[in-house]
Amino acid sequence: MITLFDQFNRPINYLRISLTDHCNLRCVYCMPLHLMTFVQKEDLLNEEEIETIARAANSVGFRKFRLTGGEPTLRPELVSIVRRLTNLPDLKDLAMTTNGIRLPALAKELKAAGLRRVNIHVDTLDQDRLPKIMRWGSIDKIWAGIMAAEEAGFNPIKINCVVTRGYNDDTVAELARLTLEKDWHVRFIELMPLGDCANVAIQNFVSSQETMSRIEQALGRLQPLPSHNPNDESRNYQFANGKGVVGFISPVSQPYCDGCNRLRLTADGRIRLCLLTDHELDFRTALRAGASMKELQDMFREAVYHKPVGHQLRHGIHPEIRNMSQIGG
Ligand code: 5AD
Ligand code: SF4
Repeated sequence: MITLFDQFNRPINYLRISLTDHCNLRCVYCMPLHLMTFVQKEDLLNEEEIETIARAANSVGFRKFRLTGGEPTLRPELVSIVRRLTNLPDLKDLAMTTNGIRLPALAKELKAAGLRRVNIHVDTLDQDRLPKIMRWGSIDKIWAGIMAAEEAGFNPIKINCVVTRGYNDDTVAELARLTLEKDWHVRFIELMPLGDCANVAIQNFVSSQETMSRIEQALGRLQPLPSHNPNDESRNYQFANGKGVVGFISPVSQPYCDGCNRLRLTADGRIRLCLLTDHELDFRTALRAGASMKELQDMFREAVYHKPVGHQLRHGIHPEIRNMSQIGG
């Protein structure tokens, strides 16, 4: 079984696949309300094309896949795409990142189709706060989605919270508190500056360190957990009497580029070499011009070879050409 290594000797075996650049929520740091242009239908990869690119990736050693968006559950072919990917040989993991809103309708079917795990994004449990940050969302709907995921048997349930000053930084303890009763992983993510939302991210940045001390002040000491997976970007902790895990993902204050193992496929068929660098290869055009499996494999080799060493945020350089909703985190 092969694995591709990049120039910095990192094994690259994880592909995140964005299924759409649309979203039903439009969080303030991810998607601007105005001036958005969306991928035209004919420019979106169709499900056969997604499968073909995933097959090429799989054949050069990609074994872990995650479906993202925008919001992946808005894609009508989602279940069928999951079924196609489940059939890849040597598949180690197939997961999805979602805002949960459509999970009550979809969770069971997705589980049956072979999806293994879900990460659900919710920034606060506070009814009044939530729509200020996750603009079109409501906690009732997201909570129903989390429950549906649990009932369908997804395990572990991971909850992602993007901490944003003035919006939800003072409600983080309520989310962390969930891990006292539930075996969920609640993870706090530092804001990353991208595209049109870069200013929101820069102005409202909160470090993981600050979030952690706020949580500890409210709920007591967090004990560090040993890290089992070198590619897990989350630093994990547990309360002494806790059932679940509290994690901190700190791409800005403690970059984890050294352990990066991933590439990203955008909904319009570009392979993006690094979330925070505007370097992309156009797989869609190659595929539609009749590229063979061998040619696609070579394009993956080239993509892995050119993967940059890491982001340049500390030098004030951030990506400009896409918003987070057009990449999928
Ligand atoms: N910074 C950090 N995380 C973000 N997400 C969306 N926008 C940002 C940002 N600017 C997260 C969401 C979602 C995932 C796709 O990316 O929480 O879980
Ligand atoms: Fe939608 Fe997720 Fe972006 Fe929020 S963070 S706008 S839920 S894709």
